[in-house]
Amino acid sequence: MKFLYSLFATILTFITPLSSQNINEFAIPSEKVERMQWWSEARFGMFIHWGLYALPARHEWVMSNEQISKKDYKKYVEFFNPDLYDPSEWASLAKKAGMKYVVFTAKHHDGFSMYDTDYSDYKVTNAPIGRDLLKELIEAFREEGIRIGLYYSLIDWHHPDFLVNEHIHPERNNQQEIENDKNRDKKKFQRFLMNQITELMTNYGQIDVLFADFSYPHKKNGKGKSYWDSEALYKQIRKLQPNIILNDRMDLEEEGGWDYKSPEQFMPKNWVTFEGRKVPWETCQTFSGSWGYHRDQYTWKSPKQTIVMLIETVSKGGNLLLNVGPTARGIIQDEAVDRLEATHEWMKYNSRSIYGCTAAPDDIKAPDNCLLTYNPKTNRLYVHVLSWPFKTIYLPNLAGKVKYAQILKDASELKMGTKKGAWMDDVNKNDKGITLNIPVRKPNTEIPVIELFLE
Ligand code: GLC
Repeated sequence: MKFLYSLFATILTFITPLSSQNINEFAIPSEKVERMQWWSEARFGMFIHWGLYALPARHEWVMSNEQISKKDYKKYVEFFNPDLYDPSEWASLAKKAGMKYVVFTAKHHDGFSMYDTDYSDYKVTNAPIGRDLLKELIEAFREEGIRIGLYYSLIDWHHPDFLVNEHIHPERNNQQEIENDKNRDKKKFQRFLMNQITELMTNYGQIDVLFADFSYPHKKNGKGKSYWDSEALYKQIRKLQPNIILNDRMDLEEEGGWDYKSPEQFMPKNWVTFEGRKVPWETCQTFSGSWGYHRDQYTWKSPKQTIVMLIETVSKGGNLLLNVGPTARGIIQDEAVDRLEATHEWMKYNSRSIYGCTAAPDDIKAPDNCLLTYNPKTNRLYVHVLSWPFKTIYLPNLAGKVKYAQILKDASELKMGTKKGAWMDDVNKNDKGITLNIPVRKPNTEIPVIELFLE
């Protein structure tokens, strides 16, 4: 028993930051800690939203936003022929950018399967391209050593048994369709979800992540666990893929049927909590707002913002799932490639402050304009300097706790001092901080990182 306890504690320490080493604070069962270890260390993944909606190129919700009927939307099948699709190019881009896992839309809300399903004709193998694009993608990403995640929409705007009378369905204002709701069979729809999820969990080898999307039980005529039959789905997923990591959108929060929280296009203020406990979390983010390819959207985050987003996420103990929306010809657009290449440049020198890292212990405060990450295994602290100051960085609370300091980019030593400056009236005499003497010129990397080897 004692042995088991200490094994559990060791595993927990491994992925949990000092600040959460209190077991109760991060009270998750050991088998969950174990299966999430690779994920917690990976910190960075690629989301890919790709489907018929790449053709209208006006947001992946175009069907709902423009209230396009099933019949009219179907025309896109006839034109879906991504002749330039080369998933190995996508995989190598992801790998270079430093991404360790991918999450790909096997089926989005429009109901079109990007794989060869046995349970619908509304699938990619019936489009001109005629190939199982998901299968090819999985093979290419595995080849690069990238873990495989699937996005699967519970919502299905194409399925004849999916109720129309609710706030987001594309045919929500079509009286005839609403009328037909009385003939729709929920059980049939549930069987369809079960069948598709079963084949995704069976036919493609090991699936590392499932991103199910999404529940809205609190809306008028909303849909949640009783509509999807989430408990049955959950059991089936776990049975077929015991090590899979699941997001939190099947409406099984209270039952514990989830592994991580998934705040979307949002940067949480602190480590995300559930019922007062810190929990594993991942934020998914777009480069410019829409998930699917959107031709006319010009709100791109800068390369610097993208890198800061990654650092900030890890500084709060989370993962970043960064999205690309390829075109209907199968190309990841230049703006996205640009940013991924900038991430690559930065990660090439600085990834040590990301992988295996988490939030800094609570008693360490970040210097002005800096974000901290911490590697509990190596006991190193990383100071990300968002705006390079003149000659001195002051580190509160760290006197006597730092063995060695260097700039991560070139491993050049930074001298440390305790001199708080003859002119610094505002620094308390009993202060326990130290100063770092930094070069006047900002090191040549988007966000310089200082690596501190703690005692
Ligand atoms: C939302 C949207 C969807 C997107 C997803 C990503 O739930 O409905 O379009 O795929 O979030 O998190």
